[in-house]
Amino acid sequence: MKSGKTIYLYLVAAFSALGGILFGYDTGVISGAILFIRQDFGLSPFEIGLVVSAVLLGAVLGSSFAGILSDRLGRKRLLIITAFLFIISSLASALAPGSISLALARVLVGIAIGVASMSTPLYIAEISPAPIRGRLVSLNQLAITIGIVTSYLVDYSLAEGGHWRWMLGLSAVPAVIFGTGMFFLPESPRWLVKQGRDNEARHILLKMTDEKEANQEILDIKNTVLIQVKSLAEMMTPWLKRALVIGLGLAILQQFTGINTVIYYSPVIFEFAGYPSASAAILGSIGIGTINVAATIVALWLLDRVGRRPLLLVGIVGMVFSLIILGFSFFAEYHSSMMTWISLISLMLYTASFAISLGPIFWLMISEIYPLEVRGQAMSIATIANWLSNLLIALSFLSLIEYLGPSLTFWLYAIIGIGAWFFCYFLVPETKQKTLEEIERNWQK
Ligand code: BGC
Repeated sequence: MKSGKTIYLYLVAAFSALGGILFGYDTGVISGAILFIRQDFGLSPFEIGLVVSAVLLGAVLGSSFAGILSDRLGRKRLLIITAFLFIISSLASALAPGSISLALARVLVGIAIGVASMSTPLYIAEISPAPIRGRLVSLNQLAITIGIVTSYLVDYSLAEGGHWRWMLGLSAVPAVIFGTGMFFLPESPRWLVKQGRDNEARHILLKMTDEKEANQEILDIKNTVLIQVKSLAEMMTPWLKRALVIGLGLAILQQFTGINTVIYYSPVIFEFAGYPSASAAILGSIGIGTINVAATIVALWLLDRVGRRPLLLVGIVGMVFSLIILGFSFFAEYHSSMMTWISLISLMLYTASFAISLGPIFWLMISEIYPLEVRGQAMSIATIANWLSNLLIALSFLSLIEYLGPSLTFWLYAIIGIGAWFFCYFLVPETKQKTLEEIERNWQK
């Protein structure tokens, strides 16, 4: 492939991955902002829960219609609409006069996140050539982690004045860039071929690859479209059923192994572990956020080289191991300074292990393993399951800590992690270096 074309491809992927920045920022920002919102509006614990989980509820809603919309409207048009929704909803959150209007605005933010969380990886997978698809799609996960750590930094720097409205409103800036940029990006050639718009698809493919490959790719897509199943009901054929189980399993396990207890509550965990002040605890979480970004970069480098399966299997072992240690550190009740170190190191190891495995690979796999005809709908199902599980974990974590204590809670996630390892070992296929059409034909065999 010519290098100019490769650069173009990277630019297109990176620009659309701005959707991931918004996903990360808007889910991460509330952890710091809620402290001040609580004061301003005098919120009860129930209302706090409402404001915090509103985004997750919205994301469940957004992902439930994202699939159908992306098949009907096209990937590009849907992403542009999503960018507008991000702009309007973040401004509405920043200006909300009371807790109800704030919760409603946050539901809207959540809807945008839900749509973006599935349509961004879908779009990137469909414009990517097989040899670098893992890396390009996972730019979205990298963007999510950058969004999360940016939200921590913004929270930290605006904390002194308690400027929560700025914390929430600032995400309109990347949303404007995202929306404007998407106008200039091409539509997914795979979606265009499905609409019978081969010439437009060829024109776009030629910007990314040479003529021979472009023609071959169109032929390939056409062949798979011809033998496509026509509706999701046909998901119930054995091979599609298996693909559905894999997507759902990865969706649930990505959340039930506990990542967002760390992403949303790490200051709380650090306080449990005896951190001397709230700001030390917030600094600890910035450390975790940075490790998350760094390890995701390593994953980007490895995904197309060593493949998806080895990374999944090694990463999950790391997650289970660090959760067990974390549980022990609370169980043994070491004196405080030792405990703060052990908790920090095991949380960092846990986050890094997630970032090379279930983090990027869940989103990557669901963009790869479904046939074109139902890709949008099938990804939607996996994405809904992911956000529902996320909501469940976010809502139950603090109560679990209260009733089971931290040790048992983290060991519970470790046990689920062991289940996740076997699930991946026996069910998840290797998709490295295969075109989306090859993956589809493999399933049918
Ligand atoms: C997950 C999010 C999580 C993030 C952390 C994503 O893959 O879907 O729930 O907060 O990774 O980096």
